[in-house]
Amino acid sequence: PGSGRLAGRHVLVSAGPTYEDLDPVRYLGNRSSGRMGFAIAGRAAALGASVTLVAGPVALPTPAGVRRTDVRSAAQMRDAVLAAAGSADVYIGAAAVADYRPRLLAADKIKKTQDSLTLELERTPDILGELGSRRQRPMLVGFAAETGDVESYARDKLARKNLDLIAANHVGEGKGFEVADNALVVYAADGAVIDLGEADKTELAARLLDVVVDRLVEKDGR
Ligand code: PMT
Repeated sequence: PGSGRLAGRHVLVSAGPTYEDLDPVRYLGNRSSGRMGFAIAGRAAALGASVTLVAGPVALPTPAGVRRTDVRSAAQMRDAVLAAAGSADVYIGAAAVADYRPRLLAADKIKKTQDSLTLELERTPDILGELGSRRQRPMLVGFAAETGDVESYARDKLARKNLDLIAANHVGEGKGFEVADNALVVYAADGAVIDLGEADKTELAARLLDVVVDRLVEKDGR
């Protein structure tokens, strides 16, 4: 068991990709495996928190002591996250939520009758952005997955979504999506920069939660 530094806290975590259906057999998705978010949820439970994990479609076992809700689409993830956010002390958005979904869901399988096919996409709900615009909100920790210019994109998301912290990862070249290892740098709304280094996701989850716990204590005096 952990040191209990999160006893009495409710930690809400999202993990994995979302799938945006195109027709009964096809979807738009991404490479997120859910490992980063599942590691965070498991560690938070080991530290004594009550943990709600909202998981997109992934093939991972539920970490010990974690309450899990499975969802498929960004819209479903939004509903599940918002349902739990009211009682959460912190929301950690490790999910790779699709930014766009097909504007129309075909009732039948789309047929290959033409040489090319154009899909019309529309924006999905911005879950973190919606929470960030609320007056009453948990501490908000976002993730930023970028293939280049990591710091400026991360700082932009931190400000635009009104987050407390954002954990930025440089994805690609065997890091970030799918694999066991990752490298994270945390940027805080107060200007602090905390380099968590490169490690496996279990270790990075522990380091990230140390930062979160310190800030919860600072904020609430407990
Ligand atoms: O799942 P793994 O294989 O372990 O990989 C981990 C990871 C690389 C997916 C993870 O570390 C990570 O970076 N997750 C966020 C990836 C992402 O989609 O980032 P983004 O830059 O598109 O989104 C920024 C933030 O806004 C994220 O916290 C995201 O959850 C949130 N978001 C995005 C879109 C949307 N519609 N709603 C959101 O809340």
